[in-house]
Amino acid sequence: METKSLEVPKRQRLLLVPCPYQGHINPMLHLATFLHQNGFAITVAHTFFNSLNPHHHPDFTFLRLNDRLSDDLVTSSDVASVLLAINHNCRAGLEEALAAAVGDIVCVIHDELMYFCEAVASGFGVRSMVVRTTTAAACISRLAVLQLQAENRLPLLHGSIEDEVPNLHPLRFKDLPFSAFSETSKMAQIILNIYTITTSSAVIWNTIPWLEPSELTQIKAKFCKKVPIFPIAPIHKISPISSSSSLLNEDSTCLPWLHKQPPNSVIYVSLGSIALLTNQQLLEMAWGLANSKQPFLWVVRPGSVQGSGGTEFVSKEFQEKVGDRGCIVEWAPQKEVLGHRAVGGFWSHCGWNSTLESLSEGVPMLCRPYSGDQKVNSRYISCVWRVGLALEGHELKRKEVEMGIRKLMVEEEGRRMRERAMDFKRRIEDCLREDGSSSLHLKELVDFVMSF
Ligand code: UDX
Repeated sequence: METKSLEVPKRQRLLLVPCPYQGHINPMLHLATFLHQNGFAITVAHTFFNSLNPHHHPDFTFLRLNDRLSDDLVTSSDVASVLLAINHNCRAGLEEALAAAVGDIVCVIHDELMYFCEAVASGFGVRSMVVRTTTAAACISRLAVLQLQAENRLPLLHGSIEDEVPNLHPLRFKDLPFSAFSETSKMAQIILNIYTITTSSAVIWNTIPWLEPSELTQIKAKFCKKVPIFPIAPIHKISPISSSSSLLNEDSTCLPWLHKQPPNSVIYVSLGSIALLTNQQLLEMAWGLANSKQPFLWVVRPGSVQGSGGTEFVSKEFQEKVGDRGCIVEWAPQKEVLGHRAVGGFWSHCGWNSTLESLSEGVPMLCRPYSGDQKVNSRYISCVWRVGLALEGHELKRKEVEMGIRKLMVEEEGRRMRERAMDFKRRIEDCLREDGSSSLHLKELVDFVMSF
């Protein structure tokens, strides 16, 4: 009898290149999972620095890029230097990989900060697409800084940093990502590279059109006239990752503690994976939390406090004041925490992933941004979307921390923000329904890549 072999159609292979920081790894792995579920084979190219664990993602093939970072760079907090070195040093590894796989890889999809990929892909005649992990507003504000600098209007000689930037309402000069540019021009170099598109076939953007309609329209008109944009946020909801993409171990012991707290009572505190604090800032946070009388779940990341191990502030006096009302961990299962009914507020550094994760669960925010896009996000959260309040002021003061927490968690202003945040949650759920904007853009994205 003749046997017929069943031909399984070969999957088109995509090469995904995340930037090796937590806030960039997470969105890229969610996207990879989605694309795999939609029929593509996935190779993830990752650096030695903050390398990923292939065992956590058995559906993907992994490729290690030798970033040749010096020990000093690996342990430094100079993100701009790390990024410049990675973009320079990983070129050869990616070229080698593409040379070996020509004809197999149909598209390279890379984080905007891994801009070297665009030129390498184009050199091999392979399509590429860029993934933007921050907002359209952040893009506009970064380019505005470069423009202001070119016109010699920064640093400000006239006026105040409290003034609004012309044409960038409601951003004030102090909300611009200054710090990224002041010390060195390295970040300016990076910004120019990430927003200069020459050969990319498309932009995949972790945002939603109704969140920033005029900003996206402006970008399409000015910078992306010929290149399609796929706004598909929130990426973390499009496909759950089967296992964690965390570089640090998530401490789930906070969940039983959360189960014991009343609904909407807990303020969750986390400043993401990069922000650094001084010991004094940590103490002001600690005593502000203690004096607020609210239950709190606080992530104190190892290495996040300059010149200290992190939790020395947990003195006898602090412990007596707080008792069981506080839970401190080194790293939390954040998405699960934000979705917990006990969590009623999020004190955040306003990283874009944290912001989207909070809005997706209807949790209002207390904003204390540190660097980069975070100040722009904070301004949008407090003044445009009005789902949070900003802890302003150069110095962090315990009394203001206490008042801010109480305002968010128990006062009328906070209650109204919570209502608006719940409305955001519903609107985000709508985006993810079959006929919602993110689902439609994702479908278009799949069709677009299939057509290559
Ligand atoms: C960085 C930038 O700082 C940020 O502004 C930019 O938008 C993305 O890159 P990061 O500072 O780490 O990211 O902040 P964020 O974007 O919020 O990403 C942090 C990620 O770590 C989130 O997905 C969050 O869920 C996760 N996280 C954080 C945990 O899983 N556990 C924690 O305890 C804290």
